[in-house]
Amino acid sequence: MSVRFWEPGKEFLRIEEEVMGTMRMVLVAGDLIMRQQMLDFEHNLASFVGTADAVGVSNCTDGLRLLLEAVGIGPGDEVITVSHTFMATMAVIHQVGATPVLVDVGDDHNMDTDKLEAAVTPRTKAIIPVDLNGRMVRMDRVMEVAKAHNLLVIEDSAQALGASYMGVRGGAWGVAGAFSFYPAKLLGAYGDAGAVVTSDAALAEKVRELRDHGRVSKTGFSGWGYNCRLDNLQAAILDIKLKKVPDWIGQRRRLAAIYDEELADVGTVKRPPGPDGGPFFDIYQNYVIEAKNRDGLQAHLTARGIETLISPGPVPNHKQPVGLDHFHLPRTEALCASVLSLPLNNELGEEQVLEVAGAIKDFYS
Ligand SMILES: Cc1ncc(COP(=O)(O)O)c(C=O)c1O
Repeated sequence: MSVRFWEPGKEFLRIEEEVMGTMRMVLVAGDLIMRQQMLDFEHNLASFVGTADAVGVSNCTDGLRLLLEAVGIGPGDEVITVSHTFMATMAVIHQVGATPVLVDVGDDHNMDTDKLEAAVTPRTKAIIPVDLNGRMVRMDRVMEVAKAHNLLVIEDSAQALGASYMGVRGGAWGVAGAFSFYPAKLLGAYGDAGAVVTSDAALAEKVRELRDHGRVSKTGFSGWGYNCRLDNLQAAILDIKLKKVPDWIGQRRRLAAIYDEELADVGTVKRPPGPDGGPFFDIYQNYVIEAKNRDGLQAHLTARGIETLISPGPVPNHKQPVGLDHFHLPRTEALCASVLSLPLNNELGEEQVLEVAGAIKDFYS
């Protein structure tokens, strides 16, 4: 492949010395489980997002599930979210015994907030907006509906570290948010990792207990819990990388602007919105186009050595065998047949973006 979708190895080589030095220090000290490096990372992440607290967890899925459990959502409750997301967003609702209620998305691939209120029922307890592709949901509207119906808002900001809407960052709008540090994310660990952010001290404490077997002291437990801790070694590495996130965001936005410019005249391709449409600040976790004859385009790009990704799709999440195919979401279903994520990662260069854009133009000409 001449243009890889993501390049963890290349990124590692660029920061090898710093990472290996830190790893050596952590390993020699034997600081492996919930030590100072994890506390430092939690502190720095909370400052970056603009919340009072951050709690490192094993991955974003676990973070969202622990949050739902911590706020007391369970059987008989409904939680509103979208199908146009990674399956995990819907899965966590199912995992706590609640019912996912799905609303369609709008032109920016995110929750259509005009459709949100109609999905509220007397059983609705919470909304999980998903900041897909590094672009935030219209959170002022989500918060309005939540306030009117006394609902909790838990943000799935897995793809949106550093993105903001009206100057407030993803994760800092609702009662809590969750981030993924899956390796392909803007801030990626060397394996699975995630974090929960919140400014509600009691909620942060509850998630801290739940992630560590329900432990409240060396020998005391507050109830049942799980093992969903963030590895200390991963936290130490994430803390190094967190400092580089603003530069990486800048680089992604510059490259997205080149894609935008290059693809502007390709009528068969619809570009993503942004990067600065009014109140939005996008971090471009993904650069997702809607393409005519998407599968043909993907095959053409693969033949040219260019790696792309179809996600979510081609089968929409609610049409997978998870018992949710009674939802009719026309925009979501249409998007799953046309979306294509183009290469965009921390190591991608301008030349490669031009190569991808050129190959797309060749396909349609
Ligand atoms: C929108 C969204 N939500 C949740 C997740 C789950 O994150 P993790 O893999 O860290 O559990 C992901 C990961 O891809 C995601 O993109």
